[in-house]
Amino acid sequence: MTSLSLIDGTRHLEAIALECLAERFGTPLYVYSRAALTANYQAFDEAFAEVEHQVCFAVKANSNIAVLNVLARLGAGFDIVSGGELERVIAAGGEPSKIVFSGLGKTEVEIQRALELGIACFNVESEAELDRINAVAARLKVKAPISLRVNPDVDAQTHPYISTGLKENKFGVAIERAPEVYRRAIALGHLDAVGIDCHIGSQLTSTAPFSDALDRVLAMIDQLADEGITLSHIDIGGGLGVRYKDETPPTPAEYAAALLPRLKARGLKVYMEPGRAIAANAGVLLTRVEFVKPTEHKHFAIVDAAMNDLIRPALYQAWMDIVPVTPRTEVTSQRYDVVGAVCETGDFLGKDRDLSITAGDLLAVTGAGAYGFVMSSNYNTRGRAAEIIVDGDQAWQVRRRETTADLLALESLLP
Ligand code: LLP
Repeated sequence: MTSLSLIDGTRHLEAIALECLAERFGTPLYVYSRAALTANYQAFDEAFAEVEHQVCFAVKANSNIAVLNVLARLGAGFDIVSGGELERVIAAGGEPSKIVFSGLGKTEVEIQRALELGIACFNVESEAELDRINAVAARLKVKAPISLRVNPDVDAQTHPYISTGLKENKFGVAIERAPEVYRRAIALGHLDAVGIDCHIGSQLTSTAPFSDALDRVLAMIDQLADEGITLSHIDIGGGLGVRYKDETPPTPAEYAAALLPRLKARGLKVYMEPGRAIAANAGVLLTRVEFVKPTEHKHFAIVDAAMNDLIRPALYQAWMDIVPVTPRTEVTSQRYDVVGAVCETGDFLGKDRDLSITAGDLLAVTGAGAYGFVMSSNYNTRGRAAEIIVDGDQAWQVRRRETTADLLALESLLP
């Protein structure tokens, strides 16, 4: 959970009162802590200090260019999944040589741009993609560095929508087919097989699935070496979970401790792609209570953020903590469904929450720094929220609130 401190009866992120930010920038408002982003990134970097490694932040988790820039300045690399994310990383000052490019549907244009910039590696998800990367590399007269995303068939024991390492998932290539696929890649002529990668799912709360996957991938590296295919890196993906409610996920240090004994002996460079574990608990979503609506069955707190701002509860039934920013003692607690104004029954931020609130109160949804703003939409013609980074006692607006004019700007009438 995002760590907020209660100072003089009101919650602060770093040294800034959230009430002040809401006053100054309006709501709904995403607010991220630079100190938390930094600490979370460094926890990974330090945990893997014993081996040559590169932490590549999964841009999809939070792609604001100021957030990426904070991480780039610390030495972070980036895991991208689109040409758009590639341009964000470049705009944020990220180094191309620290970028790994994942994703199932890379286009020729995206591949060409990534090759021209000189990214570290393409994480390849299919044989057809190998052919496409090879063709673009041939045209540019270069060799493309590639890693095969293998699917180790491990159950990540997480929500089915964010589990990716099972046979039935669309991602990667079945691990037993890897030798054949690497041989094919090498024969194509313009590919340099430098690594192997896997990503088994997100919000994992124990080390066991990571260990199982690692064992299978290391065994495959040995098998490939026996066949004369020597790889120089392993990418262990992302997926380390965070605490939203009462989960007890391993810390980056515990995660590293579970994997390092087997990695150390190898002399392989280790890439990793954490997203959530770096960003989730570095951010909150601030939202104001517009109305409280008691009904015969339930009490509703209707807030100014909605599923278009934060879709995780609606999409995954994800539980995210909701806390009053300035807790009250004089108001009796009621059990509320905290809902948005979007015309969908599934539009809720939290259900059955005991809160002492009245209309006008400010609430903070914690753990919202990852898969929050990035998954937001303009559904119901709602402009997307502004984003703020706090740094000590300073606050910077790093994305302004969308206006209705912004939303209409791309549209036109028939002649
Ligand atoms: N690498 C690859 C190839 C991925 O597909 C993902 C996430 C990551 C790294 C980063 O995983 P993380 O460390 O953040 O778990 N929207 C969902 C999560 C989707 C994750 C998709 N892939 C949610 O809100 O829970």
